[in-house]
Amino acid sequence: MKKSIIACLMGLTTFCAGANDLFVYSPDNGEGGLRLAVKEADGKWRKIGNGYDFVKSDFGPWGSHKKMWEPQLFTTPEGNWVLLFRATKDGDVIGMAESQDLMNWRPQKYFLPSDTAALAFRSRVNFIPTTIAIDGHPVNGNVLKTDPATIDKLDKYVADRQRLNQLYSEHCDGDKERFSSLKPLKGTLVANGTSKEISPLLMGIFFEDINYAADGGLYGELIQNRDFEYDPSESGVEGWGPSYAWSVTGDKIDFSIATDKPIHPNNPNFARLDVKGGIATLINNGDNAFINSGYDGITLKKGDPYRLRFKARVNNKMPLEVALVSAATGRKLAKAKLTLESTRDWKDYEVLLTPDEHCSDATLQIVPKNKGVLDMDMISLFPVNTFKGRENGLRADLAQALADLKPRFVRFPGGCVAHGNGLDNVYDWKGSIGKLEERKPLYNLWGYHQTRGLGYHEYFQFCEDIDAEPLPVLAAAVPCQNSGRPSKYSHDSLTTFGQQEGLPMDSLDYYIQDVLDLIEYANGPVTSEWGRKRAEAGHPAPFNLKYIGIGNEDMITEVFEERFKRINSAVKQAYPEITVVGTVGPFYEGSDYTEGWRLAKEENIDMVDEHYYVDPAWLIYNQDYYDDYDREGTKVYLGEWAAHLPGRPSNMETALAEALYLTAVERNGDVVSMSSYAPLLAKDNHTQWRPDLIYFSNTDVRPTTDYHTMRLYGENSGNEYLNSSLDVDTNDEKAKARVGASIVKDENTGDLILKLVNLLPVETSLEIDLRNIYSQNKEQINSLRTVMSGMPSDSKPSIKTDRVMLDSPFFTLPLAPYSFTVMRLEN
Ligand code: AHR
Repeated sequence: MKKSIIACLMGLTTFCAGANDLFVYSPDNGEGGLRLAVKEADGKWRKIGNGYDFVKSDFGPWGSHKKMWEPQLFTTPEGNWVLLFRATKDGDVIGMAESQDLMNWRPQKYFLPSDTAALAFRSRVNFIPTTIAIDGHPVNGNVLKTDPATIDKLDKYVADRQRLNQLYSEHCDGDKERFSSLKPLKGTLVANGTSKEISPLLMGIFFEDINYAADGGLYGELIQNRDFEYDPSESGVEGWGPSYAWSVTGDKIDFSIATDKPIHPNNPNFARLDVKGGIATLINNGDNAFINSGYDGITLKKGDPYRLRFKARVNNKMPLEVALVSAATGRKLAKAKLTLESTRDWKDYEVLLTPDEHCSDATLQIVPKNKGVLDMDMISLFPVNTFKGRENGLRADLAQALADLKPRFVRFPGGCVAHGNGLDNVYDWKGSIGKLEERKPLYNLWGYHQTRGLGYHEYFQFCEDIDAEPLPVLAAAVPCQNSGRPSKYSHDSLTTFGQQEGLPMDSLDYYIQDVLDLIEYANGPVTSEWGRKRAEAGHPAPFNLKYIGIGNEDMITEVFEERFKRINSAVKQAYPEITVVGTVGPFYEGSDYTEGWRLAKEENIDMVDEHYYVDPAWLIYNQDYYDDYDREGTKVYLGEWAAHLPGRPSNMETALAEALYLTAVERNGDVVSMSSYAPLLAKDNHTQWRPDLIYFSNTDVRPTTDYHTMRLYGENSGNEYLNSSLDVDTNDEKAKARVGASIVKDENTGDLILKLVNLLPVETSLEIDLRNIYSQNKEQINSLRTVMSGMPSDSKPSIKTDRVMLDSPFFTLPLAPYSFTVMRLEN
């Protein structure tokens, strides 16, 4: 790598034939990227694109970094552009990027100033800062020459980008004006009688432990910090640490965190309660209690049993009272007594508690009734009635909301959680299986703690319970591209954020073995090492894993590539039947997308994961995005996507834009194999990212408008796409783009399913001609129609379902303004 850069630097030139002065700069505060200005004939400088950022730094985490200072541009003898810049203010990291045209950039590279390449840069670069005046303001930068044709191309390019940005910023709140003269429309939808197979797995879910989706969310555990392993470095929340969510009342209990002879080295901390006073003083004294406040309180259902479990050792026979107590009234809603025998070793205890009242603010109180030193750990309270009644299972109402989406696959455990904030934070799947006390708790890069009680085994179990394919995503031995945490491998300013680190190559074989072991855990016979562990966890039958993701929207750098290739080929060699899902970066374009697809083609990767969070209008105007994708070779998993409006609401506008786009995704279901909206879950008051598909609190589950779009698609998916042509009778291209349709067939039922979207403020009446599918004289077609409608800003749509008896396969259907209609026709 270094060699090529030095070679490139040796040939750098700042001169081009031709005669335009080009000024190269970036804002002095480092915000923004490479900007260019050109000297006009009148001698004045003009900012190209009014300060357009041609490329931004990708170095370091979001927020505090990704900045650029003192950009320098050069051309190589081959005519390529090389950009060098300071990626940190004091210049202890040098960034470099290359481009053939200043518009499309290859992935960035970074160097220490002492690096040979950087030294070459320093010696070659005659950096003489110049100050010019643009619009009367002084700007620092440097000047080089380029030709007028280049300037012309740049102007056109920026104008085009700005035109697109303008287009994508069209929101429904401008519809009144935009479509002020639009009258109700008519159109035709004609099925032409041909069809193609599409993926039956198109609709799935993306589960990541973000927004308290797992601990405090889907995972059924009601005790917060049950293992006393919260680490102060995980969160900025006041008091965050091993005793977070725990407290004592009264003056007879000294509570401390101890570490001597823990249950397991992976869980070094436990609670030590030094209880003073004898039975006489404590027996009637409920004031001396050890209390857990749950995740914002514990929610209990009247009459439902809850299983309290803990591990304890005590140096004196210890009667205990345990109770679930309303914080508001102080009333004990359920209580039980048990006696702990004096023991040097950890012992397990269990008791069922059944509250006699509903409560949403309960605490768990443990009241010791004798003096002694009581050690406690893994204090857990679970509803017995979890989803499908599984021990260590999932919160039933939330899991049901996910099951109701009828997802054909579940991706887990992220997102960024999968590749982690720095190498030390990569989600190691092995640390998430086995006995709960032996699992390795993990810092969650969204700013909290993962018990990993909801670990790989539970994810697999959930997939089986809802009949969805598991799609685990593992890191490609590189951490998140936005990492901000050094790891044990970090050693200089370049690796200080962990971002540019790959697992050292001499450790890669171990890592690859971990990946292969996961497949054995899921699919191996019980006689295999990892298959046996699955059986020990209660599941002797294989989970039948078919897909595995390697990497999550990573920067496609050399560091990534060499690791990805090794992992991919090892998996394909050992398990050719497994579909490997690679990654093409976080956007629908740009260097990671381009390089990711190049790599996919070169390596013949089975499938790649595309991500894009975009304006609703991007979805409206890019319905042809997949139309020209190569049908042979690498398939697409649209793994993270959502429509984002300013302020990030979920409303009818976002839901309809997604419904519209999905008609195009279905049309391309021969190349797009899977898709999943992201993120999935968000807990009230603990939300790091909006919008999400489902919001929830301890007491309620609130599906969004977008949820209903995904549910309607999930409930009505097909495996065959019936080709059709849609024609809307208007010359207004913007109106045309807002009406969409797709027809699929579900081989399980034989039903035909029409999905029709009208994202316009007027009705569109569609004449639907299915005579090429049904026999001409078919009469009496039974159909079920669901219409979701509402004003664009509505967050609560109207959803109505009715039965419609059609007397012919040629019929007229009115699509209400701002509506999504699903019609299921018996065949
Ligand atoms: O979905 C939220 C985050 O978005 C994911 O963790 C990450 O992959 C993407 O940037």
